[in-house]
Amino acid sequence: MKGIILAGGTGSRLFPLTLVASKQLQPVYDKPMVYYPLATLIENGIRELCLISTPQDLPRFQQLLGDGTAWGISIEYREQARPAGIAQAFLIADSFIGNDSVALILGDNVFYGGDEFHGAFAELEKGAVIFGCHVNDPERYGVVEFDGAGRALSIQEKPAQPRSNYAVPGLYLYDNQVVGIARNLKPSARGELEITDVNVEYLRRGELRVRRLNRGFAWLDAGTSSSLHEASAYVQTIEKRQGIKIGCPEEAALLRGFLDIAALAMLVEKMPNCEYRQYLFDVVGEARRLEKER
Ligand code: G1P
Repeated sequence: MKGIILAGGTGSRLFPLTLVASKQLQPVYDKPMVYYPLATLIENGIRELCLISTPQDLPRFQQLLGDGTAWGISIEYREQARPAGIAQAFLIADSFIGNDSVALILGDNVFYGGDEFHGAFAELEKGAVIFGCHVNDPERYGVVEFDGAGRALSIQEKPAQPRSNYAVPGLYLYDNQVVGIARNLKPSARGELEITDVNVEYLRRGELRVRRLNRGFAWLDAGTSSSLHEASAYVQTIEKRQGIKIGCPEEAALLRGFLDIAALAMLVEKMPNCEYRQYLFDVVGEARRLEKER
């Protein structure tokens, strides 16, 4: 399975922060926002990635993440010339996807809480898997309606009268049909190729599964000043209390076996003295200790 990170948009709701750096490069507590979705994909075994952003912002992402080899992954870059919708990502990354299945994650979505996604990534053979997360303000999102047996009945984009409190977060898993489906989409009233229309088409084909995320799972989106601040506060609280980091691509790559301990130790050596370095230094130490015990 391939992975796409969509980090486009104008970030207008974060103005003036976004005058010089895109939304997905803003800090969520101690790291750039894009580290979180990137780490989510790596944690779930995705090794071949494509990052899509605006022509202005793409060079900064390249500067930040490089071609991925340092982390044992590969990252390609593609431009989205203007914000024409999430589903356009499949057309832009068509040649990258090839004949594979694909996970799309939005660059401003932060997920935390156990291994809710692992099964879904491993299971996907045919069709699509998306998620449903209980929120207070479903009208801001794609909203899923379930029947009594937990099957999805409908999905609506930003409905004025939501039929449930279950929002669809920005992580979508699709088989290769998605490219054809995206090609046949018509732009919505707001002039975008809607990801919700892709999901509705899978639902129509009887090939959509919606997994409800459990209560202990946190999904934060960091698209407004308040939600950005709240996401930072959440990450800080968990990291301080538990002594672990959320959204650390290097650690995720080590855990997935994309990086070995020696390679991570070399990366750590090159980092300036800071808390992030100290954290990974300790991760390396612990990994070495566990290796010896084995
Ligand atoms: C987009 C999708 C919406 C989804 C949300 C998740 O909304 O259109 O269905 O629930 O991402 O973050 P947008 O960010 O374009 O408002």
